Amino acid sequence: MAFLDKHKVIETHATLLLVLSFLVVTIGGLVQIVPLFYLENTIEKVEGVRPYSPLELTGRDIYIREGCYVCHSQMIRPMRDEVERYGHYSLAAESMYDHPFQWGSKRTGPDLARVGNRYSDDWHVDHLTDPQSVVPESVMPKYGFLLNASIDGRYVEDVMATHRIVGVPYSDEMLENAQADFRAQADPDSDYDGLQERYANAQVRNFDGQPGISEMDALVAYLQVLGTMVDFSTFQPDASR
Ligand code: HEC
Repeated sequence: MAFLDKHKVIETHATLLLVLSFLVVTIGGLVQIVPLFYLENTIEKVEGVRPYSPLELTGRDIYIREGCYVCHSQMIRPMRDEVERYGHYSLAAESMYDHPFQWGSKRTGPDLARVGNRYSDDWHVDHLTDPQSVVPESVMPKYGFLLNASIDGRYVEDVMATHRIVGVPYSDEMLENAQADFRAQADPDSDYDGLQERYANAQVRNFDGQPGISEMDALVAYLQVLGTMVDFSTFQPDASR
């Protein structure tokens, strides 16, 4: 066949084969990559995902400061063993307001992407204070000092404004109420209607069980919201994309 005869020319000339292969790979690569530059957003919007409340955001900063990510990932991969252990695999949208993201690459401890609502606040306080008291073989360090570190959310509005610069949709109203919302979330006797209007399903509790607001309150508030924003009993992946 004439066509195959011509192909022989390519197959018997290494340089020509290389040049043509290079061309094919280049075109193939461009076809895949170039459209991404024209998409405003490659993350599928998912119902329920909202920016962190001021108290949760503060807890997240403590999580980063203490290096929890060194031992804990926050990304459940779509593999059977992970999904059976941790729950629904992580969606890109679930970390769209995380700057920087906390996916991590090391699992000395378990993945925390869905740890929210899995344990009680008391359990978290006991565990963070002395991990070996609840899990005797644990190698996790003690973080009891967080109970003694009081915080007042003085700078949380600035932190939120900074997140807004990188694309987190905090409204002016959210910024104006940052400190009030910060206090309301840790005090079940407060008037927290506004907080819950601004941050859907925000959990309001005295997380550390002590008077006043401590870094422990913020960290536990953060842990308790992880992986709880999307309702997976109704979630449907968007098959059109
Ligand atoms: C040196 C590694 C290490 C560091 C750092 C670390 N952890 Fe852990 N963590 C572990 C290990 C190991 C476990 C499993 C045993 C246990 O439950 O204590 C664990 C368990 C946990 C659990 C229970 C998870 C589950 O599903 O049972 C939570 C929550 C947790 N860690 C939160 C944190 C937070 C918050 C920080 C930072 C303040 C932190 N960890 C820092 C190693 C670590």
